Amino acid sequence: MMQLNAQPARDNLKGLILSGGKGTRLRPITHTSAKQLVPVANKPVLFYGIESMVAAGITDIGIIIAPETGDEIREAAGEGSQFGASITYVPQAEPLGLAHAVLTAEEFIGDSSFVMYLGDNLLQGGLVSLTETFKSNSPDALILLTKVPDPEHFGVAELKDGKVVQLAEKPAEPKTDLALVGVYMFTSSIFDAARAIEPSARGELEITDAIQYLVDSGKTVEPHLVEGWWKDTGRLEDMLEANRQVLDGIVHDVQGELIDCTIDGRVLIEKGARLERSVVRGPAVIAAGAKLVDAYVGPYSSIGENVVVERAEIEYSIVLADSTITDLGARMEASLIGKHSKIARTNGMPRTFRMLVGDNCEIGLV
Ligand code: G1P
Repeated sequence: MMQLNAQPARDNLKGLILSGGKGTRLRPITHTSAKQLVPVANKPVLFYGIESMVAAGITDIGIIIAPETGDEIREAAGEGSQFGASITYVPQAEPLGLAHAVLTAEEFIGDSSFVMYLGDNLLQGGLVSLTETFKSNSPDALILLTKVPDPEHFGVAELKDGKVVQLAEKPAEPKTDLALVGVYMFTSSIFDAARAIEPSARGELEITDAIQYLVDSGKTVEPHLVEGWWKDTGRLEDMLEANRQVLDGIVHDVQGELIDCTIDGRVLIEKGARLERSVVRGPAVIAAGAKLVDAYVGPYSSIGENVVVERAEIEYSIVLADSTITDLGARMEASLIGKHSKIARTNGMPRTFRMLVGDNCEIGLV
């Protein structure tokens, strides 16, 4: 018999990570790779979300994937055993919005409550206290908010007496500076809400509108202000800032081979990395297989696997795997270098710049 007013189950939360999207603001990196797999402190952004779910006891995780990048995401995260989780992949044929992604996952979620996590977001404080609040206060949805200087780029919330009264997706004239963080907790009531709304002006079913629908139908939507830092890593400057924040928390651990080197501060050098006559000033991470010769790697740098830095100086940058940087005439900073890239001084005459530059690249010369 159907139970009237049955409380939605909030124990055994499932996880839903949205890992589709085109990543237009991170081109050219995202021409060839999913934005959620760009590494922060040498670990794909996506993995931080999976790990914080597992740390909060959520191990049944669905990942929404897009046709273009789904295979790469599957290959990286696998069945989930490396995280102590079980991962189910849910293909979303078209990027029709976050609420559309939720509907795509309806079969996977069933009547469970769940945490939805945007795969390019990083949330320092983790999920443990949030899931506990969700379970003890039993709202229909719990949203995370944080003050930002540019609310027009986010979903924006208006509160009254600590309650959510109005949400707007990227409003031209935001009423507050409280942005919606890309981590949400829902009961299965979100499915009816997502079905009830119309596509926005950008042609997407917005999760912000679905949450507004919950508010308008008298459901409880609990706001929670984020205490630690949060980053949506969609743009280069956010990626570098996220890298800085994560590196700020690393511990000193040098496993690689050092020959006549100076290592200052907290530096993580993986086994299999080799450094000769180089200076590394932390916080910085240097992955296995990397080779530094007569090089300087300064604070807030992440050097990927098999990267070669020779007679060059790098600071506040992320260098992805298998790239080579040699003989730069000036220090490189605030840069994101894609996989298999080569940056080198050419010594021949005439003294010219020679470049093979992909679409949507940015190069700053001194
Ligand atoms: C999405 C949401 C927005 C939220 C943001 C957080 O925007 O639509 O409400 O504030 O994530 O990262 P997107 O980055 O997909 O444009």
